[in-house]
Amino acid sequence: MSEETKLTGGRFRALAGAVVVATFVALVLGANVTSSGSGLAVPDWLGWHDFHGLKVPQIVSNGDNLFAYPIEKWVGAVFHEHVHRLWTAGLGFLTICLVAWAFLRRREAGGRSAARWSLAALALVCAQGGLGGLTVEMRLPAWVSVLHGVTAQAFFCVVVALRVTSAPAYLAAGPREVCAAGRSLRRGAAWLVIALAVQLLLGAVLRHTGPGKNPAAPMVSHALLTHLAWGLVVVVSVFAVCARFFRERNRDNHFVHPAMILCVLAFTQLLLGMGAYWVSAGGSRPAPAIPGPGETLPTPGLAAILLPSAHLAVGALMIALAVTIALRTFRFLAPGVPAAAAADAGESAREEPVDAARERSV
Ligand code: HEM
Repeated sequence: MSEETKLTGGRFRALAGAVVVATFVALVLGANVTSSGSGLAVPDWLGWHDFHGLKVPQIVSNGDNLFAYPIEKWVGAVFHEHVHRLWTAGLGFLTICLVAWAFLRRREAGGRSAARWSLAALALVCAQGGLGGLTVEMRLPAWVSVLHGVTAQAFFCVVVALRVTSAPAYLAAGPREVCAAGRSLRRGAAWLVIALAVQLLLGAVLRHTGPGKNPAAPMVSHALLTHLAWGLVVVVSVFAVCARFFRERNRDNHFVHPAMILCVLAFTQLLLGMGAYWVSAGGSRPAPAIPGPGETLPTPGLAAILLPSAHLAVGALMIALAVTIALRTFRFLAPGVPAAAAADAGESAREEPVDAARERSV
C-alpha cells in the first residue's frame, strides 16, 4: 500500500471513538454537577504533597489526593463533583495518548490532519481542566462557568471532527462530486454549526445566570427569551437544511443518516427544554452555598438534575452531527454543473471554482 493510499489505522479510530464517547460522558457528568448545584461540594482543587521534605503540587479532593479519595465519602453532592473530576482526569490521559499516536502516524495519509485535530483537542482539554479548577477556586463566577461549559462543547466538536476525518471513506474520497446544490448545501451545513454554537453559548449563560443557579433571578429573563427565540431559529434551520439534504442527497447515507438523527434530536430538544424550564420553575433546586469542611449540599430531585443535563447532552449531540454533516459536505461535494446536466447543455462537466462561487455569494 503506497503512502498516499494508506489510511490511519482502525485501532487509532477506535481510540478516537473512545475519546468521543468518554467526552460525551464527561459532558453529562459535568452537566449533573451544575444541575445538582454540587460545584462547591469539593471546595479545593490543587494541594501540596510532602515528598521527602519537598513540596510537590497534586490534584486533591477535600484535601486527599484525587485518586486516593476514600470511596465512602463519595456521597450526595460530593459524588457528582468528585466523579466528574476523576472521569475528566481519565479523559485528559486518553487525549494525551491520542495526540502521541496521531504524531507517530502523521506521515500516513490523513495523519497530518489527525495530528492537527488531536493537538487542538489537547490544547482544549488543558484549558478545560484549568477552567474547571479556576471556577472552583473563584467560587463559581458565572463567566468562568460559562466558559467552562462552552469549552467542553468545543472540545467535543474537535474530537468528533478528528473521528470523522480519520474515517476510511473520508480519507479515500477521490475528487469531490460536482453537485448543482453543492453551494447551498455547504452554506446550510456551515450555518447549522454556527447557529447551534450560538445556542449552546446562550444556554450556558442561561444555566449560570438564571434561576437554576441563582434562586433570586427572575423566571423570565432576557437570557431565557434570547435562548428561546434563537432556539426557534435553530429548530427551523435544522428542519430546512435537513430537508434540502434529503431532497438533494436522498441515496447518500453520509448525509441522510446524520440528518435524520438531527431532526429527531431537534424535536426531542424542544421537549427537554420545556421539561428543564418546568423543573426550574418548580424551585426544587438548592440555593448555592459554600459548604464547610466535611459538609455536603442538599441534592435536588432526580428530575431537576436529569432534565437540564439531558437538554445539555442532546445539544452537544446536535452540534456533533452538524459538524459531521459540514465536514462531509465540504469533503465530498463541490458546487458546479453535474456531468448529466452539462452533457445536456453540450458542455463537459465542470466544478465551479470555489473562489468564484464565494465571490458570487457575497
Ligand atoms: C475534559 C475536562 C472537562 C470537561 C469536558 C468538563 C465538562 C463540564 C461540563 C459540560 C459542565 C457543565 C457546564 C454547564 O452546566 O453549563 C461542567 C461543570 C463543572 N465542572 Fe467540568 N469539565 C472538565 C474538567 C473539570 C475539572 C478538572 C474540574 C475541577 C477541578 C471541573 C469542575 C467543574 C465544576 C465545578 C462544574 C460546575 C460549574 C457550575 O456549576 O458553575 N471540571 N464541566
